Amino acid sequence: MVVYKAPLGYNTWNTFGDEINEQLIIEIADTLVSSGLRDVGYDYLVIDDCWSEKVRDENGCLVPDKEKFPHGMKYVADYVHAKGLKFGIYSCAGALTCAGYPGSFRHEYQDAKTFAEWGVDFLKYDYCYRSKSVTGPDLYRKMALALKNSGRDILFSACSWGHDETHKWIDTTGANMWRLTGDIKDSWNHIKSLAMQAIDVDAVNYINCFTDLDMLIVGMNGKGFCALDGCSFDEYVSHFSFWALMGSPLMIGCDIREMDENTMKILGNKDVLAINQDADLRRPFLLCGVDSQSLSAEKPIYAKVLENGDVALGFFNFSDKRSGHMFVTLDMIGLDADTRLDITVQDLWSGEEFKPDNDTILVKRLEPHCCKLFRVKVQ
Ligand code: GLA
Repeated sequence: MVVYKAPLGYNTWNTFGDEINEQLIIEIADTLVSSGLRDVGYDYLVIDDCWSEKVRDENGCLVPDKEKFPHGMKYVADYVHAKGLKFGIYSCAGALTCAGYPGSFRHEYQDAKTFAEWGVDFLKYDYCYRSKSVTGPDLYRKMALALKNSGRDILFSACSWGHDETHKWIDTTGANMWRLTGDIKDSWNHIKSLAMQAIDVDAVNYINCFTDLDMLIVGMNGKGFCALDGCSFDEYVSHFSFWALMGSPLMIGCDIREMDENTMKILGNKDVLAINQDADLRRPFLLCGVDSQSLSAEKPIYAKVLENGDVALGFFNFSDKRSGHMFVTLDMIGLDADTRLDITVQDLWSGEEFKPDNDTILVKRLEPHCCKLFRVKVQ
């Protein structure tokens, strides 16, 4: 399966953990449509761990939990499809899933066939309880080939948390996206730690194999399964901006049925989504932490070349101190000052537009945990 854009959607884990059921999935599907989130691109609805019975049936098949999903998974998939969405499910490369349900080890082909029969479009594949005698690449290659031969196009989302140097082999397996990091929790420290890990590996992105910085916590506001202390609006904006600019898949993790205006403002920002979904699929490049007071990894500036010749530009302050002046000259992003082209900078959060002053884009002060995300428009 070829995936041309970072997948966007919804995943149940961050808010609901094991408290999932048919009614919830129906309500989430309905809300993805009624809120407009589907129409701005979030079209996968993924059920994470804890959906099955604890034992396989007499033929070795996975069985949906009879209380949580009384009509089975095909019924849920049909409902999701009828809403114009795609349906995702979860399994694990080990004998058990991370929460202790049956994993797909040594059942790869059987499970892939079952998922195809149910109408699954997306499989998240975890890395718990794996056999030490089989390597990570072998485990992911096997499920990837099982999916490819299942008779249905199923996006393969690998979740080995960057372990065993995942970045060195994951693109050879057939995965369409891969988790770089351990699990996110709803707190600023987690956003910062995952962002720092992405900066470390320089936001690797392979063709047809998107680097996944983990599901979004935007809008959780300290509530739900992976809740900690929650984040401020600005912190969620930084989280979303960084994930979007890095080209990560964006899987919503809050309870969208109770979403407030601020949450929708962030998740539904079409200009930011356009940067994430840009057709040129360029990896962003780091303009080192240019700061008039210090050079620091906690204040990265990233640029990303876009398909129409514009450039996306993100200034981040992951530190706890207000930044000094941060700036980028046009030259640093490949726009010669003598281009004689008309260059306008659009602030993707405030909507404001301005002209570079002296061929420089300057951010005077960036408060702790805040960011600026621009589209440098060239005409
Ligand atoms: C792992 C994954 C999480 C989630 C849980 C489910 O921790 O990294 O994203 O899927 O398992 O148990």
